[in-house]
Formats: sequence, C-alpha cells, structure tokens
Amino acid sequence: MSGLKSSPSWHAGLYRRALADRTPSHALVCGSSDETMPQVLTRIVPGLRLTVADACSTPLQLVEAWAAWGGADVATVRSHAPDLAGLSGPFDVIVTDGLLSLLPTPADRNALITRLAGLLADDGVLIYTTRIAGRRARLEYDRPGRVVQALAAAAWPAPPAERLRLARHRLQRPSRPSPFTAPEQVADAFRGGFDQVRVVTRTAAPTLALAMHPAFLTGRGSVCVGVTATHPRSQL
Ligand SMILES: C[S@@+](CC[C@H](N)C(=O)[O-])C[C@H]1O[C@@H](n2cnc3c(N)ncnc32)[C@H](O)[C@@H]1O
Repeated sequence: MSGLKSSPSWHAGLYRRALADRTPSHALVCGSSDETMPQVLTRIVPGLRLTVADACSTPLQLVEAWAAWGGADVATVRSHAPDLAGLSGPFDVIVTDGLLSLLPTPADRNALITRLAGLLADDGVLIYTTRIAGRRARLEYDRPGRVVQALAAAAWPAPPAERLRLARHRLQRPSRPSPFTAPEQVADAFRGGFDQVRVVTRTAAPTLALAMHPAFLTGRGSVCVGVTATHPRSQL
C-alpha cells in the first residue's frame, strides 16, 4: 500500500538531471516507504551501492526482498531521524523525500539537515523532494489511492467493526499539513547546512489521479519542490 501518497518516480527527472555529470558509487536513501526509491535510483545509476535508513522495519524488509530478488547492492539500517545513529558517511548522494514534514519541530528539521550535511561527501549532492500545499493549506491525497487503501483495510483479517473503523479512517483522515508554505522556505532550511542550494518547482499534477482532484481542477493544487544541495558547510 505504500507509495500512494507520493512516489519517488514523480521525481525521477530531477534525480536524472542532478546525477547527470556525476559518477556516484554510494548513495544513502533516508526514509523509503518501500523499494521504489532504490529502484528508481539504480535505474538511473546501474550498480549504485545503496544504504537505506528508515525508522520502521517494514520498508527495510521490502527493500531487502527487492535487493535479494534483483541482486542489488543494498545495506539497510534501522535508524531514526534526526539523529540517524548507526550511519557513517561519506555518501556521494543522499536522497530523501518528504522526511522533513515528518519531524515535529523546526529544531528537529535543522538537526536532520546538519546531520545529512555531515554524511555527504565533499563533492556529493543531496536531493530532497517534497510537496507543499497550495492555498488549501493541506496536501491533497489522490482519491483512488485512498479507496484502494480503504478496500484493503476492509479485507483485513480482523473483526468487522475493526475493519470498518480502519477503512473509514483510511478514507477520511485529514492529510498532514506541510511545515513549509513556499518553495524558498524549503531551500532556506537547507541553506543552514549547505553552501549551494538550488530549488525547482513543478505545479503540474504528478499523476492523473491528482489531476482529477478538485484542488488541481480549481488551480489550488500542491506544488512539487525539489532541492539539490552541495558543499556541506562543515567542509568550507
Ligand atoms: C520519508 S517518507 C518517504 C516517502 C516516499 N514516498 C518514498 O518512498 O520515498 C516515509 C518514510 O519515512 C520513514 N520515517 C518516518 N519518520 C522517520 C524518522 N523520524 N526517521 C527515519 N525514518 C522515518 C517512514 O517509516 C517511511 O518509510
């Protein structure tokens, strides 16, 4: 069920451009709901060695199963941001999607950025992607994705009342507010840890399902933001 809210494949063009003039050998994926991010990266850089860190064991197991099946060179580490204990760099590439939105305070977000800067090689690149809400203030979810999640919950092997509660929750839970309201705010957060920060935005809906959402149909849809950051400040 993972990947329904945001898929790394939406950002494949950004990854491709950011890695075009580079020959990275070791990448860190920080927070990976499933195997999609490692898949996208190894498609762009075949043979790339990956370390995947996540606070939760389920995505790590999905990544391990994918790596065992396809022969990818992947190490997994169960580790919590912002501390990311157990990780040691340097990494040529660090990729993370939406992780800042999952940290509760600005101090946690700044601590993560500092930690990631410390893990990046001097000539490495960090790529961060996220969506920021449009004028609705909350991110829209794709409705077909939520229906699929609700159907899966309804088929869960649990008592009927529990299944119903879970399915209703999948359909109705409010989406998370974004900690940022403008693309430059995301870039500014990274300027605390990196010397060179670039930001790109994309206003087109990333999927057909989102394009059909009332927010996009009325010009109030979320914006995809991509940040590339180089030269960790600690290296200056
Ligand atoms: C960062 S987003 C990534 C979503 C995106 N669709 C992707 O796959 O690239 C969600 C992932 O972050 C993980 N996560 C959430 N909070 C975390 C934290 N504090 N430290 C590390 N991982 C975390 C979740 O377990 C989940 O796998």
